[in-house]
Amino acid sequence: MIYVTCINLFVHCQTIVHSSLVEKTRLGGYEKFQEYIEKATVDLPEPKTARILDLGCGNARLSEDMYDNGFKEITGLDISDVAIDSMRVRNAEKRPDIEWVVGDAFNLPFEDESFDLVIDKSTTDAVSCDKDHIHENMTKMYGEVQRVLKKGGTFLVFSAVEHVPRTGLRLPHLSFEIEEKELYLPFASLWAFVSVKTQRPALSNEEALRQAQMADLQMIQERKRQQEAEERLKSTASFGVLD
Ligand SMILES: C[S@@+](CC[C@H](N)C(=O)[O-])C[C@H]1O[C@@H](n2cnc3c(N)ncnc32)[C@H](O)[C@@H]1O
Repeated sequence: MIYVTCINLFVHCQTIVHSSLVEKTRLGGYEKFQEYIEKATVDLPEPKTARILDLGCGNARLSEDMYDNGFKEITGLDISDVAIDSMRVRNAEKRPDIEWVVGDAFNLPFEDESFDLVIDKSTTDAVSCDKDHIHENMTKMYGEVQRVLKKGGTFLVFSAVEHVPRTGLRLPHLSFEIEEKELYLPFASLWAFVSVKTQRPALSNEEALRQAQMADLQMIQERKRQQEAEERLKSTASFGVLD
């Protein structure tokens, strides 16, 4: 509950400062993403009818830009009802075919193998902020993406925290073939991870989740040990404690 309220607040603030100008200058606008989206769908019999999921769409322009680029089977999903309501209102007349869904990326409300393309633009960055549950969150979210993707479908991750998707997409319950590329932007870097779903995964989701929760626990304990060591060090008058 607190999590969703914070996200809603964040999206509200984003709405105030949001404009296509902000997105264009920071992330480079749709043209940066278009080639990846078109390449991921080009081999389908009818590329423009690809079923696309914009995962954690927020109130960004991506779904709208894809629609204007000819893609019509788009679903935008976000956990924030504020974001989804604002997208519904913003697009009711001009882009009536986009489906807007309030939902949780950790438990997607879609059938298995229902999308040709799933796009995560900075959603990984948001969910990986929760340091105590980073392994668990990535295991759940990427596991859900793998489930709803058709075989041969593509998961496109655009992220500024490249080490998270680099590790997360290779978790043992996933079966992606991954290519990555750095996009150079004026004041930041963004990485594109093109991940194609291949053969069946080796490990069950349950076992992967159990391992992820253990990894989170180990990290929490390690941080606690470091904190205690720092406090012990601070409380001593000299560095003699290390002798
Ligand atoms: C950094 S924003 C990115 C928004 C948009 N994709 C963009 O490019 O601007 C992260 C988004 O992820 C959404 N989000 C966070 N946790 C989520 C979850 N568990 N399920 C669905 N969406 C989530 C937030 O509400 C927010 O809109």
